[in-house]
Amino acid sequence: MNNFYCYNPTKILFGKKMIERMPAELAGASRILLVYGQGSIKSNGVYDQVAAALAGKQVCEFGGIEANPEYETCLQAIKQARESQVDFILAVGGGSVIDAAKFIALAVHFDGAEPWQMLTREADVPGEILPVGCILTLPATSSEMNNAFVLSRRQIKSKLAFFHIALYPRFSILDPEATYSLSPRQTALGLVDMFVHVLEQYATYSVTAPLQERQAEAILSTVVEIAEPLLADPHNYDLRASAMWCAAQALNGTINRGLPTDWATHGIGHELTALFDLPHAQTLTLVLGGVYRDQLANKQARLAQYGRRVWQLAGDDAEVAAKSIDVTEAFFERLGIATRFGKIGLDAGMVAEAVCGQFARSAFQNLGEHRNIDIPAVDRIIRAQA
Ligand code: NZQ
Ligand code: ZN
Repeated sequence: MNNFYCYNPTKILFGKKMIERMPAELAGASRILLVYGQGSIKSNGVYDQVAAALAGKQVCEFGGIEANPEYETCLQAIKQARESQVDFILAVGGGSVIDAAKFIALAVHFDGAEPWQMLTREADVPGEILPVGCILTLPATSSEMNNAFVLSRRQIKSKLAFFHIALYPRFSILDPEATYSLSPRQTALGLVDMFVHVLEQYATYSVTAPLQERQAEAILSTVVEIAEPLLADPHNYDLRASAMWCAAQALNGTINRGLPTDWATHGIGHELTALFDLPHAQTLTLVLGGVYRDQLANKQARLAQYGRRVWQLAGDDAEVAAKSIDVTEAFFERLGIATRFGKIGLDAGMVAEAVCGQFARSAFQNLGEHRNIDIPAVDRIIRAQA
């Protein structure tokens, strides 16, 4: 096991009606910016619960954050946060809203002209970063319990991830009932995202870390167990609750302690969103099988373990590893999320050229746990997923 730090200060309030408990978490916040998306919280009753819990507080609102949050939109929110002199950002929504809230919190006290430069490492982060609180409505990203955000800047077709230790939410409220209104497709995309997060941190090469491996396998097996029942029974509280806790655990810095991680699928996936505006999890199912088949020799031992422990496959390592990729793609397809570019009307050759061109123009660094996925490998991987 490699050396590691372990730190996660986010307080979780999990369960029915926990939004009512929010006032105690907001002690000390005198002016709050409430950030939300394109309206789902107004139609599913979450907004009303939040408004009731905020009674008596000074609150201003910024709605309209898009899926794959847009930099330009966040700039408007930052302007509003400065004008209203807020000292707390409250995000109510899915990963996009939470990610936007983190960027806003980071940028309010930034004194340069272009906060994007923090993401490109051309400018330092300010000394003061506002605290963020979250009310999660879509289990997927784990943004509710980690220190990352991902921001899109459509004008330059860029999508960048950023991490900072001060960006762990102070608290996150996870009420599974707030997810009942998710469409089957959004539910499935969330399940896929959490599943791939675990694989990115698990399907690498072996270092001795049996607990972390079992923790990862527990999340994978749970998602396999609940996914189809949940799609068939979307108001099942226990299934919604399990999905919500799996998502949080998948990327909150628990299962990857002391381990190498991959993230090639996400690296390529972010470019697919930037170039073709595809939903985040859709990009992952298109790419994952290609990455794994390309890297099969390097990943064989771990994929064989995954195949046996999560999918109960039998055979020698080579057989089980190869089959584990097929059954994973079949699982995504059963959830209704395509695994081939042709199935969503995109030509893989055109996509490969666009993604590789984008990488060639950027400060591209090889991807994968061995840092051996170069631009020709990306081209190969995408074309193989036609
Ligand atoms: O905008 P509203 O109206 O709220 O609608 C949203 C949006 O259209 C809707 N939705 C959310 N909760 C709902 C609901 N609809 C009905 N009922 C509810 N309860 O769902 C749509 C998608 O929401 P979004 O927040 O975009 O989805 P998700 O949570 O998957 O977030 C995706 C973003 O997170 C980033 C992705 O790249 C993408 O930009 N990621 C963030 C990560 C992190 N911070 O650690 C890691 C991930 O790998 C990922 O990259
Ligand atoms: Zn993801």
